[in-house]
Amino acid sequence: MLKVQDFRRHFPLIEQSQQIYLDSAATTQKPQQVIDAISEFYTKNNANVHRAAHQLSARATAQFELARSTVTKFIHARSSKEIIFTKGTTEAINLIAQSYGRNQLKPGENIVVSMSEHHANIVPWQLLAQQTGAELRVISLTPSIEFDLSQATTIIDQNTKIVAIAHASNVTGIINPIEKIIAMAKQVGAITVIDGAQAIAHLEVNVIELDCDFYAFSGHKLYGPTGIGVLYGKQEILEAMPPWQGGGEMIKRVSFSGTTFNQLPFKFEPGTPNISGVLGLAAAIRFLNQFDRHALADYEYQLMQYARKELLKIEGLSIIGDISNKLSIISFIFASEHPSDIATLLDQQNIAVRAGHHCAMPLMEHLSLPGTVRAAFAPYNTIEEVDNFIRSVLKSSTFF
Ligand code: ALA
Repeated sequence: MLKVQDFRRHFPLIEQSQQIYLDSAATTQKPQQVIDAISEFYTKNNANVHRAAHQLSARATAQFELARSTVTKFIHARSSKEIIFTKGTTEAINLIAQSYGRNQLKPGENIVVSMSEHHANIVPWQLLAQQTGAELRVISLTPSIEFDLSQATTIIDQNTKIVAIAHASNVTGIINPIEKIIAMAKQVGAITVIDGAQAIAHLEVNVIELDCDFYAFSGHKLYGPTGIGVLYGKQEILEAMPPWQGGGEMIKRVSFSGTTFNQLPFKFEPGTPNISGVLGLAAAIRFLNQFDRHALADYEYQLMQYARKELLKIEGLSIIGDISNKLSIISFIFASEHPSDIATLLDQQNIAVRAGHHCAMPLMEHLSLPGTVRAAFAPYNTIEEVDNFIRSVLKSSTFF
């Protein structure tokens, strides 16, 4: 059983702030270990990586590549060649679309996503469909807002080349049956792209067991810094893909008569990388590894279930995607009050939540909603904070 203080005390902003932070699905707060790793890089080890002959650069490079090994182990990838550092999940998905997709897809073929995807797992595929003449197909949702597996069997067909699905919804927290979706995609020879942005902080990810072709996530939702993310790809697929962006570091030899490219993973990492971000991400993973991840997940899930039970007592409030197979996220609406008004009133009571479409406009359109209020719970939140949140929601609901 997690003792909340053992986790919470590592987060200076959480400890010092008057605000109750329930917006960890947008970005998590950062533990001191992550802040220190970034600061230590700039105060003691700052140099460019993979380039210079001097000791500082050698040290920075060693730390940078050690961080890649930390990420490799964290998601159980076979090799650190399969770990590409990107700016975040969004850049990772764009990389797959433009490097893999643009070279593979043609008219008559299709890409499959679901109705509940984040824009980052929709728009890159729409652009790819426009560029290649391929079709973008959308799998709808069941009345309980879950991924519709039976519809998937009719939408995924012999012409499907890419199936791109979130591991869990950033709006409802619902966990998608990605094992089944991956199996379906394999049957028709399509590659699978899993958007792990929301799931990575909550679920153990083993890319070998999942057997997905790509898995993408962002550091900042995993207690790490912003501006750093990871694209995992199976080595044989990454080897066959052309570079996406050109520049320094990703080349072997540049000549006006022809350029050859660096080996994996550097082929996909042009320019000076976000070195402090990479070190911060590795520090976040080391930080998390100190804890029993199941205990963290159980704790935040219990907080969410408690909040759910109390919220449902409030008149006029409904929860969107109210099922048990979900992360510690609750999206709710009121029959008459606008989500933004509720969020503003909550903010005035020092409760930080997100309101709006949560970068999932097609889902909102499907549900005929202007948006929702989203409360996301993390293991640094306390039961007292949840009680305070419930009281504030109740007060906000009676304000109008
Ligand atoms: N994708 C982030 C969210 O769901 C920003 O809030």
